[in-house]
Amino acid sequence: MTETRSAGRRVAVIGTGAIGGAVARRLLAGGHDVVVWNRTASRSAGLVEVGALPAGSVREAASSCALILLTLTDYAAVRQCLAGLDADLSGRTIVGMYTGTADEARRSARRVAALGARYLDAGIQASPEVIGTGAASILYSGSRPAFEEHAVTLGLLGEPRFVGEAPEAAAVWDLALFGLWYDAQLGLLRALDTVRETGVDVAEFSRAAAVQLGHVVTGVPATVSGLVRAAYPAGPADLTEHLTVVRHLIGLRAGRRLGDGGLPEVAVRIETLIKEGRGGEGLTATIG
Ligand SMILES: NC(=O)c1ccc[n+]([C@@H]2O[C@H](COP(=O)([O-])OP(=O)(O)OC[C@H]3O[C@@H](n4cnc5c(N)ncnc54)[C@H](OP(=O)(O)O)[C@@H]3O)[C@@H](O)[C@H]2O)c1
Repeated sequence: MTETRSAGRRVAVIGTGAIGGAVARRLLAGGHDVVVWNRTASRSAGLVEVGALPAGSVREAASSCALILLTLTDYAAVRQCLAGLDADLSGRTIVGMYTGTADEARRSARRVAALGARYLDAGIQASPEVIGTGAASILYSGSRPAFEEHAVTLGLLGEPRFVGEAPEAAAVWDLALFGLWYDAQLGLLRALDTVRETGVDVAEFSRAAAVQLGHVVTGVPATVSGLVRAAYPAGPADLTEHLTVVRHLIGLRAGRRLGDGGLPEVAVRIETLIKEGRGGEGLTATIG
């Protein structure tokens, strides 16, 4: 890392809403000169009172700083602010700190590259109140040299974690984790929805459901190890046995309010693997 101390370096914070305001305050407390711009200028007045330097435009803020943080609502706001930049920004790093999609991250990276700057996309896993504390974790992806150059400064905001050089890696990581939660939680809801109609004691069932969810958690290392080694041992059931259960579940879930959870696509994938002679492998083979 080329940056060994955080004091004295100028950082632009574009967008001083809840996250941007917290970020700017933390950077000021960390000894940085912080240049702020907000679409609604009055909303950054409090930051100026505590030492931030107001800029008249995004362009003015960006041209005077090595690190430019776009703490904005969404990609539409990021695109608008980037459109206001036409200067040669070579040597600078622009960080998109907003919740967005993989495609938006790639588009931001292309626009920033066209300006001659390096891009980092950030996934903020923190609320404004915890920015700058040990409870904040922020994912970054894109230019590794830019991350390394600014890691000390970014570390003031929360635990910085570089997750990949593809610009979209942080956004995908963030969304994939949400997806995991939805899959597990909706799986639980589907199960409760189907059993309660049969007169089953839902509270008793839920204890068995918790044990079943625990099997997924304890199986994570073996699943990932198989994926990394491209080896898919059957475990408790092979694909042929899984297909029977999956087909039963498709029938059980037919016409239900929460749908079938994509099981018909899973069945087609398993059928393809069985036709290829891989019926003795485990479920991880479906993404192998
Ligand atoms: N708050 C959280 O707990 C939290 C947690 C994790 C991630 N995030 C993500 O962090 C990002 C920022 O969230 P936030 O809570 O800071 O939002 P916020 O308080 O609503 O602030 C949004 C900022 O974006 C600016 N903005 C919006 N549209 C703009 C445009 N077209 N041009 C220029 N500036 C524009 C706003 O300026 P004005 O003041 O002029 O409206 C404001 O500075 C979001 O993507 C959010 O999903 C937030």
